[in-house]
Amino acid sequence: MDDLRAFFERLAEEWDAQQPPDREERLRRLLEPFGDLLQQAQAVLEVGTGTGALIPLLRESAPTARQVSVDLAHGMLQRARKRSPEAWLVQADAHYLPFPPATFDRVICHNTFPHFRDKPAALAELARVLCPGGCLLILHDLGREQVNAIHQGVGGPIGNDGLPSGDELVYLLQAAGFSPLEIEDSAERYRAIGQRRTG
Ligand SMILES: C[S@@+](CC[C@H](N)C(=O)[O-])C[C@H]1O[C@@H](n2cnc3c(N)ncnc32)[C@H](O)[C@@H]1O
Repeated sequence: MDDLRAFFERLAEEWDAQQPPDREERLRRLLEPFGDLLQQAQAVLEVGTGTGALIPLLRESAPTARQVSVDLAHGMLQRARKRSPEAWLVQADAHYLPFPPATFDRVICHNTFPHFRDKPAALAELARVLCPGGCLLILHDLGREQVNAIHQGVGGPIGNDGLPSGDELVYLLQAAGFSPLEIEDSAERYRAIGQRRTG
């Protein structure tokens, strides 16, 4: 994990400059289908916020919810702090979250899930901090093959960080205590909603 953290610490400085100029518009489009789900939220956890580009948009989408964003890399969070001085930011690893069980009713992983070193363990941890009936959103506005090819091209500690196929994700979600509500594994995008089972 130290090599992954070091990689993202180094990337923090240039991450925003690498993003497309229409990034905000793309993020809005990404969240749009989940408007109702976010509007009803009371406590939202964003995992792998990076420089925090999603934070202001999540605040707009879930205006009354408590909102916490975590990331492995301190350098990323320093930039998120500049963007959103009032945000609740925590340096933490998705596999060991410093929150009691059932703290959140929404968990969002945007462009982060491929980097989880132990996906079954990370999903179990996300299920732990979600209340029963709460929803996990895994969001990418690129297709799986594109995402995986980008990581392979970059290489180093993220070279093998891949998104699983939709079928594999269904299996992983079920094993971690989620009911898969929506899975889109298309050429254009990769999106999933898993609902934390109540039983
Ligand atoms: C590709 S960046 C995406 C950042 C942001 N979500 C965005 O789309 O601009 C992935 C982020 O996930 C973070 N990350 C990777 N593995 C993590 C883990 N196990 N726990 C928490 N954050 C993690 C990295 O530090 C990095 O900031």
